[in-house]
Formats: sequence, structure tokens, C-alpha cells
Amino acid sequence: MADSSAAAAAHHAPSGEVTKRDLLQLIAVAGAAIGAGAIAWPLIDSMNPSKDVLALSSVEVDLTPVTEGQGITIVWQGKPIFVRHRTAAEIKEAQDVKLSDLIEPQADSARVKAGHDQWIVLIGICTHLGCVPLGNKPSDPRGEWGGWFCPCHGSQYDTSGRVRHGPAPANLALPPYAFESDTKIKVG
Ligand code: FES
Repeated sequence: MADSSAAAAAHHAPSGEVTKRDLLQLIAVAGAAIGAGAIAWPLIDSMNPSKDVLALSSVEVDLTPVTEGQGITIVWQGKPIFVRHRTAAEIKEAQDVKLSDLIEPQADSARVKAGHDQWIVLIGICTHLGCVPLGNKPSDPRGEWGGWFCPCHGSQYDTSGRVRHGPAPANLALPPYAFESDTKIKVG
């Protein structure tokens, strides 16, 4: 028995006509896809963060000019970042302190990168009410523990950025960063 649906198709639409219509539909679909693609690209492109924003998401810092005992402040994502090149005495002081003497006990080794303990990198925002502590410039007061002094209410931080005198309740926070070489870090 002959296939009735095939027979019906042949009856209603000769094979040449079906092929032409399919082709026209294919062209229409392809055209729509190209059109959609052309519209989508500028939209996607406009959703990408601008180069300025990308640049701020991480900052490379050349450590070469920062001599021992000196600190610099850079800005990362709108926050001051302290980078201090610690002297041997400052490192020893930070390492020798008894953890039980600390308001927020944390070993110095947990606050620096292994093999780079001469560098301390901190978010320079006092953990009390958010002032920027002093201590990076050579002329700045550094407090009794030789680190940073917050002029707002007198909090003091040691050479590891740990709070030693309140009212600040916590150590200066550490930003995410990595050494790209011995003389370059990338913050963020
Ligand atoms: S904000 Fe630093 S001591 Fe209050």
C-alpha cells in the first residue's frame, strides 16, 4: 500500500516548490541569526567593564624604589594600601612578640608572604572607625610599637600591622596580593 502522507505532500506541494520554500526559510533564519548577532555584540561589549575599571581591580607595584624602613601608600579599589619595607629589627620585633600579648593574636608569618618577610602589605584603614593611620612617611608618628598610629582615637599598630593599643579591636586587614617577582607585587 502506498504511503498516504507522502502522497498527500506530493499532491499539495510539488517537490521543486518545497525545496525552494525550504531554502527561502533557511535564508530567512540565517538572516535573523546574523541580525541578532550584530545587535547582541554591541550590547555584550557595552556590558564589559571599561579598561579603567579593570585597571583598578588589580594594581602592580614596583618595589624597587622603596628602601628599607620606608613605606608607600597606593590606592587599590579606592582603599589605601600600605606597603612597608621592614628593617631587620622591625621583622624581629614582629616575630618575637608573644601571641598572648596581642589583642587579636596572629603570628607575623601569617601576615607576610613566605620568603618575603621584609614586606608587609596592609589595607590602611583603622579597624576602629575607618581613619587612615599615620606611619608610612618617615616624618609620621609610628606609635609605641613602631608600626602605625591612628590620630583619630589613638589606636596603635605594630610592624606587622597588628593592633597593640585600642580602641581599634582588630589588626589591619590584609589585601589579596601576590609577588610577581622579588621586586613586584600585584594587589587584587
Ligand atoms: S578610627 Fe582609628 S582609633 Fe578611631
